Amino acid sequence: MAVTVKSAHEIELMRQAGRILAKTHEELEKAVRPGVSTWEIDRLGEEIIRSYHCIPSFKNYNGYPASICVSVNGEVVHGIPSKKRILREGDIVSLDAGVIYKGYHSDAARTHAVGPISPEAEKLIAVTRECFFEGIKYAKVGNHLNDISSHIQAYAEKFGYGVVRDLVGHGIGSHLHEDPEVPNFARRMRGIRLRAGMTLAVEPMINAGKPDVDWLDDGWTVVTRDGSLSAHYENTILICENGPEILSLSSEGL
Ligand code: MF3
Ligand code: CO
Repeated sequence: MAVTVKSAHEIELMRQAGRILAKTHEELEKAVRPGVSTWEIDRLGEEIIRSYHCIPSFKNYNGYPASICVSVNGEVVHGIPSKKRILREGDIVSLDAGVIYKGYHSDAARTHAVGPISPEAEKLIAVTRECFFEGIKYAKVGNHLNDISSHIQAYAEKFGYGVVRDLVGHGIGSHLHEDPEVPNFARRMRGIRLRAGMTLAVEPMINAGKPDVDWLDDGWTVVTRDGSLSAHYENTILICENGPEILSLSSEGL
């Protein structure tokens, strides 16, 4: 599938999807506290998304059984919500959500602290978020995809962290996953040239330890092989003539 440039109308729909998703994350963050089950987070997330007449895009995507991916501590991404998984003080939890508004997608993830957490965990969450902002400094018309990817990697590795290689960001639009792939690490090829109107989901997945991951037997949950903590931060962005616009960051204008 070729990389597409979105029309003004498509961009407006993706802006709205992004605002609703930002609002969903703002509300979910308030629900993160010790004693809450990951299932409750998922129920609340789906309720919020549907209250805006949107569809949670992950639900039944390739058979994924929930609306929100809830990944705790050494779980990198795609944790399946469960009534039995109760968040405890000191945990970190990554929430990944997607919405469809009038046929257009937005995808975003945040990692939160559950009560007070260790300074090491705080640092990992902060640096993972910074990786996103460092990477998108290079999301400029005329730059290449690899300019984003290589700067995310360099920033994470400065702190000794492991950049996950087995999962990547992606183009997004009328489908959740479109071309191009958006790695969080440098590739030998510089990748496509960025053009105004391209929309990308940029999503660093950063491990406190080594980059290696495994898949659990549930077929979904991705975990760090060395058991180290992992954080995830993602937004849907639009490439503009004068730099990137982050579509899923603020619920302003809802
Ligand atoms: N945010 C994830 C991604 O970018 C989507 C989760 S996969 C799903 O690929 F199956 F849970 F939807
Ligand atoms: Co994504």
